[in-house]
Amino acid sequence: MPGMQFPYPRKTSSPTSPYAPTRSSYPRPRYNFRSLALYIITGIALLWLVVHFLSGLSTSKTERPPPGTPEVVIVTTLDPNLSPRHRQSLIENRKDYASRHGYATFFPNTTDYDLMPNTPLSWSTIPALRHAMTLYPHTPWLWYLTSTALIMNPTHTLHERLLDPEKLTSLMISDQPIVPPDSVIKTFANILPHRIDFILAQDSEGLAGGSMLIRSGEWAKFFLDAWFDPLYRSYNFQKAEGHALEHIVQWHGTILAKLALVGQRAMNSYTRVQGGGGGAGIYQEGDFVANFHGCQRDTARNCEEEMRPLMSRWRELRDQEGRR
Ligand SMILES: *[C@@H]1O[C@H](CO)[C@@H](O)[C@H](O)[C@H]1NC(C)=O
Repeated sequence: MPGMQFPYPRKTSSPTSPYAPTRSSYPRPRYNFRSLALYIITGIALLWLVVHFLSGLSTSKTERPPPGTPEVVIVTTLDPNLSPRHRQSLIENRKDYASRHGYATFFPNTTDYDLMPNTPLSWSTIPALRHAMTLYPHTPWLWYLTSTALIMNPTHTLHERLLDPEKLTSLMISDQPIVPPDSVIKTFANILPHRIDFILAQDSEGLAGGSMLIRSGEWAKFFLDAWFDPLYRSYNFQKAEGHALEHIVQWHGTILAKLALVGQRAMNSYTRVQGGGGGAGIYQEGDFVANFHGCQRDTARNCEEEMRPLMSRWRELRDQEGRR
């Protein structure tokens, strides 16, 4: 038989068994060779995927953002009813600080976001931060600063003040009740600073959300979405998003594990003593931030008037510096 001299049978040599038809078009040995090739190709593809995936994991953290990316975006939500002059002063105050250190600023209106009916406008903080993340996707940090606060001492960067790992380690208050004086949920001890994604201070009543640093990224998306859950918005917490924040921090270990509490004067000094509180967080000249906390919620107070003297003092300090 001539076919015998070839390693593989020829088409003509196919047996005529009832099972032959498929075999005649796919001689068996060739079929095996093909599947072997298929295995090899699949193997190589899988290997490539694994290598690609692993290298993706290891480089995604160290990947350099595009040149010119600001390190921080400062977010202040503004009530459209502010007087144009006061609004302008607040913007100027943040822009002055941002321009010194190459940061970006973002000033959305509190009315820009679709909140549910009867939801306090202060809830707009959360979609505003989410919005800032989409506008500055490579910027590693968001700094939310309430419109009732002024940056009084612009000389140091946020890294020098808070974000530098050694600095943060020295400022972090561990094993501290989240809501003073006696909440059973306490900040973790021994969290490494590079694991921290959320930094804020505490006032005498609870978390002081008027000044918050959030590390942008997947965790921040999860955190902000959890905070903005319609359930919390409709719950009618007395302090709105502030109480919702205290709630999620205490109930979600994944959020608590990312949180660093720092002393109030590190990022959120208050200009007035709160009811029942001591004077530990009270603003003194030289502090980073002066927050006229509560001037907006309290109808007997007027933020613009209250802030005027320190706004002038800030301008004075800035102009003195310019002359030196
Ligand atoms: C925000 O409010 C200011 C002041 O009322 C207004 O001039 C501006 O157009 C508003 N911006 C947006 C995007 O609505």
